[in-house]
Amino acid sequence: MHIEKIHLRNYRNYETLTLDFSSKINVFIGENAQGKTNLLEAIYFMAIGKSFRTSKDGDLIEIEKEGAYTKLLLCKNNGQEKRIEIGLDRLKNKKCKINGVPLDRVAELLGTLNVVIFSPEDLQIIKQGPSQRRDFIDGDLSQITPRYHHILGQYQKILKQRNQALKMKQFRRVDLEPWNTQLVHYGTEIILSRREFIKGLSILTRLMHRKITREKENLKLIYESSIPMEKEESAQEIKARFLRDLQGLEAEEIKRGITLLGPHRDDLEFEINGKNVKKFGSQGQQRTTVLSLKMAELELMKKETGEYPVLLLDDVMSELDEHRQKDLLQSLKNIQTFITSTSMESMEKIDEMNLYEVRGGKIKILQKSVS
Ligand SMILES: Nc1ncnc2c1ncn2[C@@H]1O[C@H](COP(=O)(O)OP(=O)(O)OP(=O)(O)O)[C@@H](O)[C@H]1O
Ligand SMILES: [Mg+2]
Repeated sequence: MHIEKIHLRNYRNYETLTLDFSSKINVFIGENAQGKTNLLEAIYFMAIGKSFRTSKDGDLIEIEKEGAYTKLLLCKNNGQEKRIEIGLDRLKNKKCKINGVPLDRVAELLGTLNVVIFSPEDLQIIKQGPSQRRDFIDGDLSQITPRYHHILGQYQKILKQRNQALKMKQFRRVDLEPWNTQLVHYGTEIILSRREFIKGLSILTRLMHRKITREKENLKLIYESSIPMEKEESAQEIKARFLRDLQGLEAEEIKRGITLLGPHRDDLEFEINGKNVKKFGSQGQQRTTVLSLKMAELELMKKETGEYPVLLLDDVMSELDEHRQKDLLQSLKNIQTFITSTSMESMEKIDEMNLYEVRGGKIKILQKSVS
């Protein structure tokens, strides 16, 4: 898939912007604070329905404006065109449309425009706590299988209610059984999806990493499921274990008033040549791990959805060394890519691109790709 056109009105520092893109590589050069990330954010926003930088939609509206409007035209590989529109209003919920048809829920956007974003903050996937890694997994899975997003929402709802029930049980008799059944039902589905996803991602990440490190390093992804698994347990087996362990924890849960078991406590571990990357990896190894992961994400999404997603590279080229830059660019042959940078350095290696200049919320095209 590729984005043909974008239109923004009162979005961040863009008063009005209308732009055409190349279906291959698009490079945006500009000084700090000119609107480069804002543009990538707008694209991401139309894929996911929220920003990767803020949870407050109001931040996306140009200061002192009442509302904002974003639109893009997407072309699928089969030639089908999709128009995505989002209207933002400071006083109302956002409104999304696909091909002019209003969506009941923002989540219905998922699966139309798929994106993978790679920015310097992605290092946090390795460095930060488990919730960043769960978000990473959930983000990808929600794009690949919109149903996953729904199940996850259901699970979170039950989890919240169960935590409330646990707090009540501290003071009076409450039957936890109905909560347990539902938690285990949705939780098991999440665990199974994550296990499958990580299995696929792990194979691809390992391949990418071996290539990037010239066969020197073996990168392994390990799903640290909250429900311990030794083999390919069936849904029934996971459910039984989940329920049994949950019952065993009841006294402790009531004491603490929270749910202690379930996929809300899952984690993902990275190992290079048998050593934990978070604890023992060098800065460079951590960065390369994220690069391998991102490249694997592209391939996995292609495998699962039949099309490459759109790739957003925010300010990452200059952080990679020469041969990593080359590896990355080489793997982008059939992927529409948006690259931002403060300088032209390391962009010279790209032979075919649309080149744009970003300055103060305005974008000028400097060079158009011939294809
Ligand atoms: N809601 C808003 N209304 C108006 N301007 C905004 C809004 N939100 C952010 N900005 C402005 O957008 C600019 C930042 O844009 P952006 O983050 O895209 O910069 P950038 O070009 O990516 O810079 P850098 O190279 O530092 O990453 C800032 O000048 C900021 O004040
Ligand atoms: Mg930026």
